[in-house]
Amino acid sequence: MKTIISPSILSADLKILGSQVRAAREGGADEIHVDVMDGRFVPNITFGPDIVRACKDSSDLPVDVHLMIVEPEKHLKNFIEAGASTVTIHYETCPHIHRSLQSIRELGAKAGLTFNPGTPVDALNILADLVDQVLIMSVNPGFGGQKFLPIALQKIKQVNEILKDNDSNAIIQVDGGITSDTILEVYRAGARNFVAGTAVFGHPEGIAAGIAALRAALA
Ligand code: DX5
Ligand code: ZN
Repeated sequence: MKTIISPSILSADLKILGSQVRAAREGGADEIHVDVMDGRFVPNITFGPDIVRACKDSSDLPVDVHLMIVEPEKHLKNFIEAGASTVTIHYETCPHIHRSLQSIRELGAKAGLTFNPGTPVDALNILADLVDQVLIMSVNPGFGGQKFLPIALQKIKQVNEILKDNDSNAIIQVDGGITSDTILEVYRAGARNFVAGTAVFGHPEGIAAGIAALRAALA
């Protein structure tokens, strides 16, 4: 399975978002990760559907939308119509998670399910056939630039087993503290989609160098 690098615009220079997305594309990114935060599920407030549209219109990269918001089911249509290819929702925010995941696919996007560091992944045993992506948070969501939490490694391994047991070809994505120092052990645990904000948009030699450093660490 191809390794996906998914730069998070949370760390991009928002004054020049379009050119940052294009630079990520030229630097070899496979998709663009948009971290949506509502100031309720997580302390920070970030982006809405218009920013998804802006990213979608800036390059041909798929836009991977991570909804760190309460009641995400109310906003699925707007984010998907704005151009989201994948919409990932938090298990912790959906009392009707089974229905919410079905709705994402019915609206024409790939369905992602994500768990915070402190949330067990056991529910995946009954939701595996509804997801195209499982995102394991390796930081407590809300801000970029945080330190990788090693607890994520055992959860990635567990998700890998559950997906195999369910004959699922969903991809395992990891988000938070992914750098050239942490990416290889995360890959070995079973992840194939890597969200990186600081390591890409904050790289001292620029975006392409940030992506290249992540790929070099996997080589
Ligand atoms: C949750 C966000 C961040 C971001 C990645 O807070 O999802 O994890 O995407 O941030 P870095 O790569 O800077 O840790
Ligand atoms: Zn994210």
